[in-house]
Amino acid sequence: MSTTTTPDDPFTPQPPHVSPLAEGLTGRGFTPAADAEGNPDAATAAFARAMEQGFYQPYLSDEQLSRVYQAYFSHGPYCYGVYPVADEPAVERVREHYGFHAEYPVATWADFDKTLNTGVDLLPARLITGVTVNAAYRRRGILRHMMTHALARAVTDGAPVAALTASEGGIYGRFGFGVAAREAHVEVNTAGGPGGFELRTPPTGRVVPADPSRLEAAIAEVWEGFHRRTRGSVDRQQVYTEFATARLNVEEWSTWNRSMRAAIHVRADGRIGGIVWWTHAGWETEPTRVEVRDLLAVDETSHRELWRYLASLDLADQVRATTAVEDPAPWAARNPRSWRVTRIKDVLWIRVLNPVTALQSRQWGTDGEFSLSLTDPMGIASGVFTVSVSAGVAQVSSSQSPTTPQHISLDIESLGSLYLGDVSVLTLRDAGRITAGEDLDWAALSATVDLKDRPFCATHF
Ligand SMILES: CC(C)(COP(=O)(O)OP(=O)(O)OC[C@H]1O[C@@H](n2cnc3c(N)ncnc32)[C@H](O)[C@@H]1OP(=O)(O)O)[C@@H](O)C(=O)NCCC(=O)NCCS
Repeated sequence: MSTTTTPDDPFTPQPPHVSPLAEGLTGRGFTPAADAEGNPDAATAAFARAMEQGFYQPYLSDEQLSRVYQAYFSHGPYCYGVYPVADEPAVERVREHYGFHAEYPVATWADFDKTLNTGVDLLPARLITGVTVNAAYRRRGILRHMMTHALARAVTDGAPVAALTASEGGIYGRFGFGVAAREAHVEVNTAGGPGGFELRTPPTGRVVPADPSRLEAAIAEVWEGFHRRTRGSVDRQQVYTEFATARLNVEEWSTWNRSMRAAIHVRADGRIGGIVWWTHAGWETEPTRVEVRDLLAVDETSHRELWRYLASLDLADQVRATTAVEDPAPWAARNPRSWRVTRIKDVLWIRVLNPVTALQSRQWGTDGEFSLSLTDPMGIASGVFTVSVSAGVAQVSSSQSPTTPQHISLDIESLGSLYLGDVSVLTLRDAGRITAGEDLDWAALSATVDLKDRPFCATHF
């Protein structure tokens, strides 16, 4: 292996080539806007309606529009729409007579910046959302255009990583996004008796019922604690506060979710330790069920106590929730079968844009050194990088060729999956996604790169 290197080369991510739109289409970026009463302007209104329809939601009324604006657009995300400008005369005629007006996009995209908890840092991340392409315009390269346009902007803006949550698993790998955190969907037997969920640990503190509409300050406090302690957590958009204070019913975009219930765990030291939000699924379900809408805690004790409370709810024999893959609650239960995982699903996809910044902000298992050859089909982050971890902090430099025999090769999608420690280097090796020479000390590499627990992201966007 060659050792001719140029160490400490400054690395600059390369904006990708922006894939052009097909003839007859044009793209337009804008910042959403509304009047003093919160009614969105025509471009924002059409964008919001097209986006909701792209996810098969109903056509929004004007009243619903102002709520969608408040929840999703008032914090000023960047919006990008694709609009038809010219087509065959017959299609143009039909579109003019029967189609939506000219400001109604056939494809939507939005992004904004929030922090990602890497385990040691709150790293700025470019979050992608609202990606839709109208069925009549699919498979003509619109998504590829919007993606390359957006990632070029993200690179120019200096974002070290981009992230998204995906409705389908087959779309985003080709653009360098890897599954970085997963969540567990669980059904918990709360019917009581030997089959039911019951904690081994004695109770600590008290759980008190709360009026969701008064929770805003408590949410901010608990969220701050949760976000800072949870690797993989992504800071939340305003819509979460609207939802958790029951001011907004996101299923119908109406005001007040009158079914929302909440309870707070007051710790033994008197501080607020966590909040759970839940709704009853109705009397027709068998078994009668409660759905956890959110559960946030500043530590595992409060997390457990909120589960104790959920299990104690009368007239409900089952609780459904979405939680961390490694939630300790089933290990705290006397009967582990009272906790049934019904599905493990990817939640957060990461696309590394600047491997130097991203890896220097990553958590590591132990100190060590290795180099990696990174391939990136979009050309943003390709290169050879040396990672030297000392006292838990990585120094990363780029070079012409590997600087150590501890050298691996992988693609950018795999780096996204390794980033938060959701998967081990050994598993990706066994999956054929990391290759190395025969001399590689896999145990040493795993000790440095792999982390002891799994990340969790409680934010969907
Ligand atoms: C998914 C969606 C955005 C794709 O848009 P599109 O404009 O048809 O995509 P493009 O024509 O640019 O295709 C880009 C690439 O992705 C592939 N692709 C597109 N949709 C795909 C899908 N659903 N599954 C797998 N691959 C897909 C294309 O084959 C193409 O591959 P290639 O460039 O390697 O040849 C669009 O189908 C859509 O709006 N779906 C409903 C809403 C949705 O799922 N949004 C995603 C939210 S996370």
